[in-house]
Amino acid sequence: MKGIILAGGNGTRLQPLTFVGSKQLAPVYDKPMIYYPLSLLMLAGVRDILIIARPSELPLFRALFGDGRQLGLRVDYAAQDEPRGIADAFRVGADHIRGEECALVLGDNLFHGANLPSLLRRSARRMGGCVLFGHEVSDPWRFGVAEIDTKGRLVSIEEKPRRPRSNLAIPGLYFFDAQVVDIAKDLVPSARGELEITDVLRAYLREGTAELVWLGRGVTWLDTGTHETLLEAGSFVRDVQRRTGTRLACIEETAMYMGYIDPDDCHTLGSEMGNSPYGQYVMERARSFSLGMPPSVLSEEL
Ligand code: TTP
Repeated sequence: MKGIILAGGNGTRLQPLTFVGSKQLAPVYDKPMIYYPLSLLMLAGVRDILIIARPSELPLFRALFGDGRQLGLRVDYAAQDEPRGIADAFRVGADHIRGEECALVLGDNLFHGANLPSLLRRSARRMGGCVLFGHEVSDPWRFGVAEIDTKGRLVSIEEKPRRPRSNLAIPGLYFFDAQVVDIAKDLVPSARGELEITDVLRAYLREGTAELVWLGRGVTWLDTGTHETLLEAGSFVRDVQRRTGTRLACIEETAMYMGYIDPDDCHTLGSEMGNSPYGQYVMERARSFSLGMPPSVLSEEL
């Protein structure tokens, strides 16, 4: 399965922070925002990843991850010259997907939860259409909203409805089969001028191949698109990390846990940041993994 992280957009709600900087490189406590969606894909077992960003910001992402080899990944890059909408990811990324299944995650979405790794891997395996997620929120009108019937089956999907039919928001993480490229080719921009991901999901819904997976209370989903939610996300990460002594979205640890790199490689990556508590954590995790201690990502998290 291929992966795409959509990390472009204008980030207008975060201005002036985003005038000359990428939202997805803004710090969420101790690491760049994009570490969170990247570790999510890694935990889903996705290793071939395309990062889509604004042309001016692509070099920054490239400087951060290179070709991804140090994490046992393959990372490629593509520019989105205009923010034409989330579904544009499948046009910009058509060559990357090349007839395979694809996971799309938005570069500003952060997830944390006990059973998330196994849920992701199950979802990635259960393909034959698309898988989307539902998460209960108090302000559904800000999101794509899923309506379900009494048996929990998906009935309708609406983008930012004025009168939402449920409080089940659709977070920025989706799994698609290879058809998605053709579906995206035929899309026309919505009234707000964007290629809507909800239109893609609706195409699958019409075919009867859209599956909704409910993220229960055990999963926290944070969107980091406003000053307030960015700060909240940073506080959340700090609190969880302080209480548990672990680090969320530690991509080096995740790569080791997933078997993409070995503990020695992980230790080397940590030592390159050895002056920071993050680097020391990476080295410590590599040492305990070598000694047979269970990795923290087994029991959590992103
Ligand atoms: P949004 O939060 O919808 O848009 P934005 O990031 O441009 O922010 P604002 O609303 O404040 O102007 O985007 C969600 C995610 O998808 C975010 O990570 C940016 C990304 N995105 C793109 O990369 N390209 C696009 O064309 C769009 C619409 C979003």
